[in-house]
Amino acid sequence: MTVYRSHAAGELRSDQAGADVRLAGWVARVRDLGGISFFDLRDGTGVIQVVVDPASVPAASGLRMEYCVAVEGTVRPRPEGTENPDLATGDIEVAADRLEVLSASAPLPFMVDDRSDAEERIRLRHRYLDLRRPRMAANLQARSSAIRAIRETLDGMGFLDVETPTLVNSTPEGARDFLVPSRLRPGHFYALPQSPQLFKQLLMIAGVERYYQIARCYRDEDTRADRQVEFTQLDLEGSFWGRDDVLDAIEQVVAAVVERLRGVEVALPLPRITYQEAMARYGTDKPDLRFGMEIADLSEVFAGTRFRGFGQVLAGGGVVRGINAAARKASRAELDGLVERAKSLGAAGLVWAVVQDGGGLRSPVAKFLSAPEKAGMVGTLEASPGDVLLLVADSAEVASKVLGRIRLDLGSPEEHESLYFLWVVDFPVFELTEQGDLAPSHHPFTAPVSVEEMRERPSHAVAQAYDLVLNGSELGSGSVRIHDPTVQRAVFEILGISEDEAESRFGWFLEALRYGTPPHAGFAIGIDRLVAILQNESSIREVIPFPKTQSGGDPLTTAPTRVVDTQLGELGIDLAAATKAALSDRPAPPRRA
Ligand code: AMO
Ligand code: AMP
Repeated sequence: MTVYRSHAAGELRSDQAGADVRLAGWVARVRDLGGISFFDLRDGTGVIQVVVDPASVPAASGLRMEYCVAVEGTVRPRPEGTENPDLATGDIEVAADRLEVLSASAPLPFMVDDRSDAEERIRLRHRYLDLRRPRMAANLQARSSAIRAIRETLDGMGFLDVETPTLVNSTPEGARDFLVPSRLRPGHFYALPQSPQLFKQLLMIAGVERYYQIARCYRDEDTRADRQVEFTQLDLEGSFWGRDDVLDAIEQVVAAVVERLRGVEVALPLPRITYQEAMARYGTDKPDLRFGMEIADLSEVFAGTRFRGFGQVLAGGGVVRGINAAARKASRAELDGLVERAKSLGAAGLVWAVVQDGGGLRSPVAKFLSAPEKAGMVGTLEASPGDVLLLVADSAEVASKVLGRIRLDLGSPEEHESLYFLWVVDFPVFELTEQGDLAPSHHPFTAPVSVEEMRERPSHAVAQAYDLVLNGSELGSGSVRIHDPTVQRAVFEILGISEDEAESRFGWFLEALRYGTPPHAGFAIGIDRLVAILQNESSIREVIPFPKTQSGGDPLTTAPTRVVDTQLGELGIDLAAATKAALSDRPAPPRRA
């Protein structure tokens, strides 16, 4: 196979007993049993047990974990009773008659083992060791397989893989830009792309009818389990396309990836729900359908209620909504804890009720509720004895949002064993910021369903925008784009971007739109999120080879680092005296060639 190997360690099987083999890899486990040394040899395909007698092979006596070694020997069945059924190679071993240490390993900062519980900082500091762990190696392979499945699917559909630049102008996707100073034009900056959005639209104008790219994107935002400052999208766009063309293409892509990574067939087409319905029934625009506990409206049940907590809200135009949190052992203290949780989420309160045998309710407010109201709760929430019912009265928005969060607290499974995809369609064009301003709910290049509606009632206007959700995570989003420059200008205007500002920031794009732009639509999937969920990982960091920490740093390379003044000088940058003073206690790193 290679200069160092005749076989892959993990692929040897009992029908190769008797074969002479040359293997190379790492020492994964060493056991000395009365003069005979056993160790597990690991390579990229798995492990095999090697047996060696240090008396005849002296190099075997000093073996330590993670030494890199080459072995020559003979495959033989393991003695009866010593087989390991958990290992693909578990009924054979290699009796080595030669062993060479190719390189020794320093003492390990943590065990290179899936059971290792090393702190993440240490794992990232020595990521090259962390990635040797079988689980991490499997994640890297899965990521590569996913990307291969994406490419095969889209290549087969006639898509063109086009690279777009990463030193660009700002592309608004709602995050802060990373800026790169220009040496040749001091005082000027590139931005790293938050997405290839405007370039893919330019490609549509350029006549590329089907574009895709595995695109690196950069957003200067706080890192979380599902967020990194640099991440990867499958970005795609089609011209002469409408929404359903996008949904169809994306469905084929995700089905191919799931088939490749999980070996299961995804039933297509995927279910769809409108944004409004998602918000009402799940209190979120990314419903997790792995479990029930849907939010139901109980306003009619309480239309004539004597219970003031509900009556006043209903009289003020609010709603009463509830979930059936199912039968659960919940102490009084836990139930009261849910009331506090609801309040911390912005509700005025929360009513809990436990359904008794015979249909009665145990609840702090039971005495205020009429028999038909109790029966209405049990009936609407399809409750059985033992079930815990949770009700909130408030504006429709707050009631669903609070119940949606509690629903997730109580029901969200940790594992991604089953996969529940969902399209959420008909997003609003704009959303209100905390300051009360209109902001694009996707990005400002999204087409409204009706331009008139958008002009007249912008905060109610519906966009031709859609998200793909998997197990409660936003996997991707996209839209039909604006292809008419006057509509594009109108959106900027509604967003409070003056004509001058629009011209200076996006003039080049508005101009391009004037040259016979085809109708077009597209989408982007977060590849890190997709692979993490399919690999049953709780953080995308586990499927990114070299991720950043919470504070945006890389413990391995120590990026970001200070740079020397001459380098800053070349860029025309003079760090303010105050900044310099703040940094003076840290030495500048040597400049690399
Ligand atoms: P959007 O901003 O929704 O859309 O991004 C698309 C998908 O990219 C992933 N994603 C991230 N993954 C990890 N870390 C991050 N910081 C991060 N930010 C986003 C998510 C998200 O759903 N140009 C549009 C797409 C389009 O309209 O075609 C865009 O970028 O999975
Ligand atoms: P109070 O009358 O404020 O003492 O509330 C009695 C019970 O009703 C408490 O359990 C409150 O949490 C609950 N409650 C009050 N207001 C609301 C509301 N808007 N929605 C749900 N429960 C409420």
